[in-house]
Amino acid sequence: MNEYRYDNQTVQGFILSAIFWGVVGIVIGLLISIQLWAPAANLAPWLTYGRLRPVHTNGLAFGLGVGAIFGLFYYIVMRLCRRPLVFPRLARLHLWLFNAIIAAAAVSLLAGKTQSLEYAELEWPLDVAIVVIWVMFAVNVFATVIKRKEEQMYVSLWYVLATVVAVAILYVVNNASVPAGLWKSYHAYAGVNSANVQWWYGHNAVGFIFTTPILAMFYYFLPKTTGLPIYSHRLSIVSFWSLIFAYLWTGAHHLVYTPLPDWIQTLAIVFTLFLIAPSWGSVVNGYYTVGADWSKMRTNYLTKFFVLGITFYGLQTVQGPTQALRVVSQLIHFTDWVPGHVHMGTMGWVTMTICASIYYVIPRIHGTEIYSEKIANAHFWLVLVGQLLFSITMWITGIQQGALWKVQNADGSLKYSFMDGLVKNYPYWHTRTLAGIVFAVGMLLFVYNVLKTIQKGKALQASPPSPAPAAA
Ligand code: HEM
Ligand code: HEM
Repeated sequence: MNEYRYDNQTVQGFILSAIFWGVVGIVIGLLISIQLWAPAANLAPWLTYGRLRPVHTNGLAFGLGVGAIFGLFYYIVMRLCRRPLVFPRLARLHLWLFNAIIAAAAVSLLAGKTQSLEYAELEWPLDVAIVVIWVMFAVNVFATVIKRKEEQMYVSLWYVLATVVAVAILYVVNNASVPAGLWKSYHAYAGVNSANVQWWYGHNAVGFIFTTPILAMFYYFLPKTTGLPIYSHRLSIVSFWSLIFAYLWTGAHHLVYTPLPDWIQTLAIVFTLFLIAPSWGSVVNGYYTVGADWSKMRTNYLTKFFVLGITFYGLQTVQGPTQALRVVSQLIHFTDWVPGHVHMGTMGWVTMTICASIYYVIPRIHGTEIYSEKIANAHFWLVLVGQLLFSITMWITGIQQGALWKVQNADGSLKYSFMDGLVKNYPYWHTRTLAGIVFAVGMLLFVYNVLKTIQKGKALQASPPSPAPAAA
């Protein structure tokens, strides 16, 4: 007889919230992609591109991404620690506050309230609320890890802890601001210092929201779904520490050719190049894990989500350091190449891994099987095609834009005006909207499949303890 049970209700609450905010973010993504080639689609002041873009980025990074992180981390932490959360009621309160904050954030951005710092747009009252819920989350995670019943710390737990600590530091330092009213504040740093701190934060928002937590999920759910132990636990730990060591010093690669001192840019570029090694440590570990039995790609519908996810992570982490090189940056910076890079990571690596993890968790907490593997397969192919079409189109138009901006006449003046370049983007922007529709249909199939699985399953119950994933 088990003496304790895992609380699945909060986990599911976060998962469903993440899915809801994900759908909102994707619909807005589609709308802003249309607004770029059909300016008449800027229907009202609060529905203009400038206001909707941060709702898209915040909605997906913080609504979908962080919502999934909260839910799946609670799920993982309880199982890897072999005990329920120390403060289950706090987790429930955390869930309600999280949704209230994301809703308030969306409304405030639509109303044009912004600090004008990318991924840190929210004004100070919301920042304070975010710090409060992050502390609630951290207290629960740390207390559960400290009181754990399993002695060994599996690698996912290291990634969980790094995420909790790093996000707290990054958020507090970059959101330090001087209030000038209830909905207006100014960054505590000025000029080049402001830019440096902002991009230290901005890059690490990618690192600690789109990378470390997704790796925590990957390392936990890949062995769980395939039944194959992680190829090398040692490699996973070495990659973890070197990734954490290097990530925090790379932010200035977003500020190449700016007034930021050259040596800071160069140092950031060097750390950025180094980052290929720990990133690929995880990629190789993932491939070798599945390499023990490649037939899982055919027989287990979730394996391909994880393998393609880690493949896009691998491509992303080669492309990223390349972009940081001065010679590449001066061609692609400010062009559509960058959204191409971004969406390979977000639509490929991040969304695929989160969806596969949710496909694993939902049937388990309802004591059932997935509603339809066929629909899950259709979802996989649609998001894959949508993402590839999106990224490849943006890379092509990005290079074209960068190249056009550089062409000079004999007297040194620019040959092409900004408008010449802009007009040439249109066919690519149409294609991006098409790609977005394909991706969105795939995601809607995912939502349908999850809801039908919940409907089909038993009433939500607390689960008995399960063994930790096997590690070599
Ligand atoms: C080794 C890993 C990576 C490195 C070194 C890297 C490097 C870079 C660089 C240099 C830029 C700036 C491009 C420019 O504006 O000129 C950039 C932008 C970006 N990258 Fe990566 N990248 C990496 C992985 C990822 C991953 C896994 C994601 C996940 C989705 C990601 C998401 C982004 C985002 C969102 C931006 C846009 C930031 C902005 O300007 O708003 N990157 N990356
Ligand atoms: C239907 C799918 C999607 C569409 C149509 C879409 C569209 C767009 C568009 C048009 C932009 C602005 C690009 C620009 O500034 O020129 C953008 C930016 C961005 N999107 Fe999406 N998006 C989609 C899915 C996603 C997903 C799933 C995520 C995250 C999980 C995401 C994260 C971002 C981020 C972080 C940026 C900022 C990039 C930057 O600053 O360079 N998007 N998206």
